Amino acid sequence: MNLETTLQKLWTGYSDLNPSAHKIHSLLENQGERIINDHIAFRTYDIDGINIDALASIFIKMGYEAKGEYSFEKKKLRARHYEHKSDNLAPKVFISELITGDFSKEVQEIAAMVARKTLESLNNEDELIFAGTPWHPLSYKVYKKLLGESEYAAWMYVWGFRANHFTIFINHLKKYTTIEDLNEYLKSAGFSLNISGGEIKGSREQLLQQSSTLADIVEVEFDEGLYSIPCCYYEFAQRYEDKTGNLYNGFIAKSADKIFESTDSRE
Ligand code: NI
Repeated sequence: MNLETTLQKLWTGYSDLNPSAHKIHSLLENQGERIINDHIAFRTYDIDGINIDALASIFIKMGYEAKGEYSFEKKKLRARHYEHKSDNLAPKVFISELITGDFSKEVQEIAAMVARKTLESLNNEDELIFAGTPWHPLSYKVYKKLLGESEYAAWMYVWGFRANHFTIFINHLKKYTTIEDLNEYLKSAGFSLNISGGEIKGSREQLLQQSSTLADIVEVEFDEGLYSIPCCYYEFAQRYEDKTGNLYNGFIAKSADKIFESTDSRE
């Protein structure tokens, strides 16, 4: 599978599940915008076979290389971002993983079960980024247990291997030239933005500004019945040039930390 087909398949899975992402994408396209993705993101647990390295391998095969590393002490996560070696317009890939060793034995056992069932379900390691949740049926009790320790761990259990978010690269929009303009438009169109850490994360001085919608709430079937759970969000990024005139391509850990909260439970 080439990069374009891979990205299209990820987008279809993501936009089918998240009506807001689909709507925002269409609203902008109908205004003549051609949407370029700044980055797409994945979440996982740090278990061999499903960790950052495992998710990255398909992208490495398609011409990507590892770039920045990030750590999120409070949320007990680490992350790495990847860039395509030759295609400037290819989205960056941001992959994070939960440091399961820092959590309870139950969390570690659930993560191990997720890894085992996922690896059993794959015909080929390149399918991992599309694997979803091959550990069905989901247990609401397990979800609540994970939620008590980590929002991230709980999200991963319910939604699994799929794009956690796509990100509109504001630099490439024609009508909305600043993140402020785009945010105002999205709010006027009725979308809720994540305001944790402020509506706009990062600054011009940091060379990256980001905002995001709050994740859509989607009904999920658990063993115990149907429950409404936050799914995925849509992110927006504006990048600036450094003193040497190069567009900054990295990420700001402090901003990413707040963006993660776009999928927080709103009970
Ligand atoms: Ni992001």
